[in-house]
Amino acid sequence: MSGRVRVGSVADFADGQLHPVDAAGTSVVVGLAGESLCAARNRCPHPGFSLTKGPGGLRYADGRVVCPWHNSRFDSASGENLDWAPGFAGRDMPRWSRKMIALGRQPSPLTTYEVTVDGDDVYVEL
Ligand code: FES
Repeated sequence: MSGRVRVGSVADFADGQLHPVDAAGTSVVVGLAGESLCAARNRCPHPGFSLTKGPGGLRYADGRVVCPWHNSRFDSASGENLDWAPGFAGRDMPRWSRKMIALGRQPSPLTTYEVTVDGDDVYVEL
């Protein structure tokens, strides 16, 4: 589905954490990045695993999310990749091992979505 989808209320995302939501069948994460809400597909562009479920646990601070699988870091608002597959399950690995951990995949950004707020309602544009 594409289009504008309501994903919750402003208060649902006010704690500064990333929250997984279902947006008409698309798994999305929504959270505060600075003063604004942001949204991204809940799927790491590395091999496509969830950003919110994995052995390293969800780590999100200052608008940056760390993938719980191989620790890739992303700007949650722009989707920009800030570090690509530097470890596993929250633990950094030696620099020489990065190519193996990356599985031959090149650094890629998160898929991000526009967020709008209408009154108390939060919408994601899929
Ligand atoms: S699945 Fe996210 S970094 Fe590998």
